[in-house]
Amino acid sequence: MAVSISVLSSCLFVFVFILPRLWSRYQFNKKYRLPHVVPGWPIIGNSLDVPFPGGMWGVETARKYGEMYTCYLGGRAIVFLNSSRVVNDLLEKRAAIYSSRPFRPMCQDIMSGGARMLLMPHSDRWRNQRKIMHSILNNRQAETKFIAYQELESKQLVYDYMTDPENFHLANQRFSNSVIMSVVFGRRAAIDDPELKAILESVAVLAEYLFNPLKNICDAFPWLSNLPKPLQWWRPAGEAYFKRTRALYKGEYDRLVKKMENGTARPCFAVEVEQGAAKKEFAIDETEKLFVFSTLLEAGSDTSRNAITQAVAAMAAYPAWVIKARAMLDEVCGADAERLPSLSDREGLPYITAAAKECLRWRPFIQTGVPHMLVQDDEYEGYKFPAGTQFCWNAYAIALNEGDYADPMTFSPERFMDADLNNPLKGHWSFGTGRRVCVGYNVGANNIWIAIACLIYCFDITEDPDHPINTLNTNWEIHKEAPFKVKIAPRSQAHIELIKRISIEALTADY
Ligand code: HEM
Repeated sequence: MAVSISVLSSCLFVFVFILPRLWSRYQFNKKYRLPHVVPGWPIIGNSLDVPFPGGMWGVETARKYGEMYTCYLGGRAIVFLNSSRVVNDLLEKRAAIYSSRPFRPMCQDIMSGGARMLLMPHSDRWRNQRKIMHSILNNRQAETKFIAYQELESKQLVYDYMTDPENFHLANQRFSNSVIMSVVFGRRAAIDDPELKAILESVAVLAEYLFNPLKNICDAFPWLSNLPKPLQWWRPAGEAYFKRTRALYKGEYDRLVKKMENGTARPCFAVEVEQGAAKKEFAIDETEKLFVFSTLLEAGSDTSRNAITQAVAAMAAYPAWVIKARAMLDEVCGADAERLPSLSDREGLPYITAAAKECLRWRPFIQTGVPHMLVQDDEYEGYKFPAGTQFCWNAYAIALNEGDYADPMTFSPERFMDADLNNPLKGHWSFGTGRRVCVGYNVGANNIWIAIACLIYCFDITEDPDHPINTLNTNWEIHKEAPFKVKIAPRSQAHIELIKRISIEALTADY
């Protein structure tokens, strides 16, 4: 009797679970053809095999399987694109159908109230938010408004490097956070700013969900969101997170509204949304407005911090380009510390512009890109992709691919001294691609430019022979300690005097 029950339950299992799966796999294979599927586990696919950050794993896997390969993360297929050629063909030229985002019920619907633009599908709501951001961040006037903040913060950046060189990573963090806080809410942020600290903590929580497909089972297997709400055990934590995040931004926003009422608000993104020429066009509900602000702060802080820290690693590990850059800076700003470089020097310092682009190309810190989702079936070079397939530009693999860049390991601004020099988006993929390309790219590119120019002009930054920098495995994610050791010293007494003189303004500016 016991034997027949076990035979019966085995047959039931085969009929209910195995056969339908095999049948749907057969149907799928008849209709579609994906690039080489990396071997994985039943149900969870490659979820346990893809490390985070996945840069070197992505490089090695691309070397093994070529220009494209497929992984299953959670229950979903992601095609990794490993050369600029295929990124260009699919995510750029076919951007109209390759620009959505995968459905993430926990991250987007529950934790973000459906309002976080970075995670939105290619929809009217996304288009509207993107239009708001683009029109305020990337018009000509914006350049002049936001540059004032970047220049002020660069003065404190050099002061912080001079007075506390061991904590250079914190100086980069303070600079980046204060610029984005000024751009979005018109106020500065100190390194121990309690509101900003809370915001960054909430970003860190979101990032865990965003980058780890197994962090929440419902994001890995979205059909679970069809369960009745009381059975969704992850929901209360997600809803609590949403309420906390909303309250954080509401607090910032309310403080700004008070400043607008008493006439002390500084020019910034939020003021523009409230009072700018197109305020009617931008009439969106309060939650959505708060999440527009939150998206900008989240997307604009750690990205710049990482890029600048990366530039410091490149200065120490590849001194040849620094010597060249410094000679040009000395020509423009004076060899005897006459003045700090400013963003108005960009035209006269193309090599610094090239270095800022190379900094993004060299070791892309969004190492395996951000998934774009295809919205309709598509064919490419013998492959047939179903709607819903995700595509990532495999950033590290492309950056280190000799077919894409000659001598890719070396930091070499020369590779960007070309006709596209002044287009921050051309020649690398670190701002993303297609219709989802980073909307804050001007702010980001200027942050990197001014930081590189000021640091090279004022400091000797050299490798510590006892602690060589492993530029491939530097953990850019860590905030609390420096990701590598480096020697930082002012170039001369004249440079010390310059820093003392110009930093007074930044140390006393309070808004
Ligand atoms: C060095 C600095 C930065 C880097 C490397 C960077 C990189 C990126 C990348 C890779 C994406 C995803 C693009 C894609 O999916 O194709 C992105 C999206 C985005 N970035 Fe940036 N970013 C930077 C700075 C900023 C700044 C300063 C802001 C705001 C002022 C910003 C706002 C955004 C927004 C709102 C999105 C979402 C776009 C969308 O989904 O349509 N970023 N960024």
